[in-house]
Amino acid sequence: MIRSVGVKITGIGRYVPQLTAANADYERIVDTSDEWITQRTGIKTRHISDGEPTYYLGLRAAQEAVADAGIEVSDIGLIIATTCTPDYYTPSTACLIQRGLGDSDCPAIDINCACSGFVYAVDMARRYLACGDIKRVLVVAAEELSKFVDYTDRSTCILFGDAAAAVVLEKSDDTLYSSFLAADGSGARFLAARALLTENPFRQHDSEFDMDMPVPNKHYLLQDGKEVYKFATKALPKAVENACKKADITPDELDAVIPHQANVRIIETAAKHLGLSMDKMILNISDYGNTSSASIPNAFYDAVKSGRIKRGDKVCFVGFGGGLTYGACVLEF
Ligand code: UT7
Repeated sequence: MIRSVGVKITGIGRYVPQLTAANADYERIVDTSDEWITQRTGIKTRHISDGEPTYYLGLRAAQEAVADAGIEVSDIGLIIATTCTPDYYTPSTACLIQRGLGDSDCPAIDINCACSGFVYAVDMARRYLACGDIKRVLVVAAEELSKFVDYTDRSTCILFGDAAAAVVLEKSDDTLYSSFLAADGSGARFLAARALLTENPFRQHDSEFDMDMPVPNKHYLLQDGKEVYKFATKALPKAVENACKKADITPDELDAVIPHQANVRIIETAAKHLGLSMDKMILNISDYGNTSSASIPNAFYDAVKSGRIKRGDKVCFVGFGGGLTYGACVLEF
């Protein structure tokens, strides 16, 4: 096992809206069934915003993580928010969370790597921490997929939910840490939600610029489920294997793998490929659905709170999604 400069997770937090939508609720709005959704995805219910904005979910998760770390807000040296469903183009979600936390003038940035956002953010945080001038990073993953889900499209609307989860990270010398991050932009069109358009009085061309991307109705999320499924079942094990290889450990030495919660079948296929039993895979998709970048820290939160993951455990966060992006990081909790 290779030891290097890594991160210590000193605080965790989570917040989800009160409102829930179970599979039976979807039977009333689209042609679907609890049986189909359960068998094809493993999802039973999800939390859905009842008007609370994305930043607010993130703020509540961040407040819990800061309290859990036993620090003051002024101790945070950097806020990284990860979201593909922000409330504004500007200000960033990170700035809105900072405003809510108060007593902070640290740098605050958003990143958007869709469902891989948390893994990318942890790795970015570790690189800032390794430089030494920043002592603590607050990573907040906050998502409201309900904002751009088309609730008339049964192939996507049943998949997604809203959630936020946060961690406080500090530098940890001489510890287990490795990461593998990747992106494959050639698959960009397989998972897309278009930005909002405004009228431009100077524009002379009526026709759309051909971006070789889907042109969804409004800004709804479009997914080619089969293509993303194929990608995900390869990307997940590849990312875990590569991150483990860099740390000179084998996947079976991990105590837990916390994968993006997109579909229980993807996770089962990946576990088989990795030669891991499903006991190693952390799952909470049945209660939350797919919450994009919030899904990994949300599953991690439940696993820590239930005692499934303990201090000192070797864990692997692994994400995949829009971009297409994917990646994993291996660390000691
Ligand atoms: O978070 C980002 C990453 N995202 C993912 O990883 C998602 C990857 N993709 C998937 O998880 C799966 O492809 C889905 C869950 C989206 C779909 O499952 P599937 O087993 O690939 O179903 P399918 O698209 O092949 O559709 C099978 C059938 C179709 O009917 P026909 O053409 O066979 O008659 C669909 O129209 O199931 C139908 N179908 C539904 N039936 C009932 C699609 N959605 C539904 C639904 N209820 N909600």
